[in-house]
Amino acid sequence: MRKLLVNIDHVATIRNARGEGVPDPVEAAKVSERAGAAGIVFHLREDRRHIRDDDVYRLKETVQGLFDFEMAATDEMLKICTGIKADLATLVPESRQELTTEGGLNMKLLREDFRDRVLPWLHDEGVAVSLFIDPEKADIEIAAELGVEAVELHTGTYANATTSQAQTRELERLREAAILAHELGIRVNAGHGLNFENITPLLNTVPNLQDISIGHALIADALFNGLENTVRKMADVIAGKMSHNTGGQEAAG
Ligand code: PXP
Repeated sequence: MRKLLVNIDHVATIRNARGEGVPDPVEAAKVSERAGAAGIVFHLREDRRHIRDDDVYRLKETVQGLFDFEMAATDEMLKICTGIKADLATLVPESRQELTTEGGLNMKLLREDFRDRVLPWLHDEGVAVSLFIDPEKADIEIAAELGVEAVELHTGTYANATTSQAQTRELERLREAAILAHELGIRVNAGHGLNFENITPLLNTVPNLQDISIGHALIADALFNGLENTVRKMADVIAGKMSHNTGGQEAAG
């Protein structure tokens, strides 16, 4: 069944802007789970620009559902992630200059390092692995060959598409990728750039989706509607209990 994972990074971004303790991302995680999120995602970046180490340890004490540790595959992060026994490590590319994660992992480049260093490290400590990848056949085949539990399909290009033709083309790429990953026995997650407007066409077009990871749009909507209302509404849309009005398209059941 499709479920919502809430990314709470931007609650920490707001907190850090004033160097004080509020708003607390751990409180946001509690509210999100109470409102129907199936788990919490956080990205501990090398530069600690939003989530910090002590947030990770406090989240571990609090989160009841999936504890999804998004990170670059550096030795430092692998140590923290396995030390804390995350449920899932979502591996992403990371560069200091970017405002947010800008694309999927380059699996052709990373294949050997992931096979020899990263995946044994995580799997030996019982941490499941998801690879954040573009909806590309070759990357999905490498993910299958590496034996990861999940892929998270990068929906950013779809979300940023400015014409309906480009949007349709991106949805088709995501659909084909989701079918292939599912056929190869990999769990299919998705995320990046999703919001109340673009979620319904995605859900209606792309089969086999499981966990949908959303951050920025939820925190933005929550400023006006309250985090609990916002998360409950998105969790219901994703679970197919409610459709969001996007020109008459109904959320798939
Ligand atoms: N999934 C991954 C791998 C991400 O890096 C991000 C951004 O932190 C998200 C999902 C959530 O994206 P957004 O904040 O645009 O909803």
